[in-house]
Formats: sequence, C-alpha cells, structure tokens
Amino acid sequence: MINEVVVATRKNNRDNKAPIGVYFKDKKVIMHLFFGSHTYENLLTEDYFSVNIVPPIEIAKAVLDDNDEYLYYDNIPYLKNSYYTIFYKVVKREFVERDDKFGKNRLMIVEGEEIKRIYLDKVPKPYNRADGLLVEMAVIYSRLANKNIKIDEDDKKEMEKEMKKYFSIIKKVGGREHKQLAEIMLRNLNLL
Ligand SMILES: Cc1cc2nc3c(=O)[nH]c(=O)nc-3n(C[C@H](O)[C@H](O)[C@H](O)COP(=O)(O)O)c2cc1C
Repeated sequence: MINEVVVATRKNNRDNKAPIGVYFKDKKVIMHLFFGSHTYENLLTEDYFSVNIVPPIEIAKAVLDDNDEYLYYDNIPYLKNSYYTIFYKVVKREFVERDDKFGKNRLMIVEGEEIKRIYLDKVPKPYNRADGLLVEMAVIYSRLANKNIKIDEDDKKEMEKEMKKYFSIIKKVGGREHKQLAEIMLRNLNLL
C-alpha cells in the first residue's frame, strides 16, 4: 500500500518538504524519488529525513512551497502540523531508470530505518470531500508543473479537464483554504 506523507529534509541550512508516496515495512520505509526534485537532491547526500503523517490539506500545501513552521529533532526538520512523525536514517540508495507513459525516468529508491517517532497532540478534523480532491489535484499538478516530465497533448488536455472538474466540486463542498489552494494550482498552470 502506498501511504501519502510529507517528507522533510534539510541541506545547507534549508528546510524542504514534499508530498511523497511511501511504503512502510516494519521499521523501514521505502520511497521512489524522481530525479529533479529537491528531495532527491537532498537525499543524495543527506542521511536523515522525517516522514510526516499529516491531514490531506497539508499534503496539497507541500506541493506548492516549502514554507512552514518546522520543528527539529537532532537537526532533522519535521512539521508542526503533523499527527505524528517518524525519523529515518538512510540505509540504502538504489538508482534505476524506468520507462512509463511519461517517458524515461531516473529514480532513486531510498530505504530508511526508523530511529525515532514523535506523536504530536493534534486532533483530527472530520473528512471533507475537498480533502481527497485537493490531493488528486496536487498529484496532477506535480506532473504538469514538472519540466522533466514529457506529457503528450491528449493526456495533458485530459489532466487539465480533471483539474477543472475537481475544482468545481471543491468550490461546492470545500472550505476557504481548500478553494484557495486549488486556485493557486490552477493559476500556476494558467488554467484560471
Ligand atoms: C500525493 C503526491 C504523491 C507524490 N509522490 C511522489 C513520489 O513518490 N516520488 C516523487 O519523486 N515525487 C512524488 N510526488 C511529486 C513531488 O511531491 C513533487 O515533485 C514535488 O514538487 C517535489 O518537491 P521538492 O522539489 O521540494 O522535493 C508526489 C506528489 C503528490 C501530490
């Protein structure tokens, strides 16, 4: 099962966060990082990172920028808005090339071993349908906004159509923050 989390890393005194789909396996985590992201660059040399289990809206926020109220455990950044955070040390890096419909991708498969876990005192909010739709928008956004990914015109049109459809539902069922984040994504892609 893929778990959508926010991975936080730090390099040259700069904190970075990104939504990433990870696999948990006992005390280990495995993630597939596409070449070109800051998370990829940071974990190429840095050995520590945090996996933040967050509300869906925080997953969508993390695709847009790195600004946040970071907390630190032994200089490893993590998110104040996390329900709980697991800290890992990199124990394996594997470099592979994969061919899919988005073309040839260079991937780094990172395996981490748990070193610490912190539970934050945060109460979950009720599920809102805009939560899931916003995360779907963030997935499409991260592909459309990525210069390294080649997307053919038909697929691109289809993805843009989906973004607009999700936005129309978010406008009906979501809160102010959901709508604002969806608007930023659409505006950045020149779809609004
Ligand atoms: C829900 C979700 C899951 C994602 N999973 C991955 C992933 O598993 N691997 C990856 O390389 N990028 C993944 N991405 C894309 C990255 O989050 C995106 O490229 C991001 O801009 C990288 O940020 P960074 O440059 O700060 O590292 C995902 C995006 C979303 C919204």
